Amino acid sequence: MRNSADIPDRELVNLAIEAMANSYSPYSKFRVGAALVTGSGRAYSGTNVENASYGLTVCAERVALFKAVSEGEREITRLAVVSSSEEPVFPCGACRQVLNEFSTKLTVVITSGGGALERHTLDKLLPHAFGGKSLPTK
Ligand code: THU
Repeated sequence: MRNSADIPDRELVNLAIEAMANSYSPYSKFRVGAALVTGSGRAYSGTNVENASYGLTVCAERVALFKAVSEGEREITRLAVVSSSEEPVFPCGACRQVLNEFSTKLTVVITSGGGALERHTLDKLLPHAFGGKSLPTK
């Protein structure tokens, strides 16, 4: 089993690019790919899946995360996001909230088409996050 630290960021980006090839985005034509590594060292990827009822679209980040969680993963440590845009794409607000549920310290790696990698931490992207600890105990 590989340790999550053994998967270089570039490799994670390449997994995201591979996933983006399967993007189902006939409405926006905006292709997104995401790949993440978990605390157990496994990698999962996903792409955006749109719907004719636009609001039912699911972002690439949540597809990758839900694949991981449904395989039993409960902690993610790094996430790479790529898109068909020339500009780096950050996870949307909804995805940040969902990612927060399954991470204590998450590094988000974003990049433009073939450009340099940028690294951000989720606590900076989602300050004052609402989480399980925010809920009353009874
Ligand atoms: N999208 C993602 O997959 N991730 C993001 O972080 C932003 C938006 C997708 C949703 C939709 O299919 C398309 O990009 C346009 O919003």
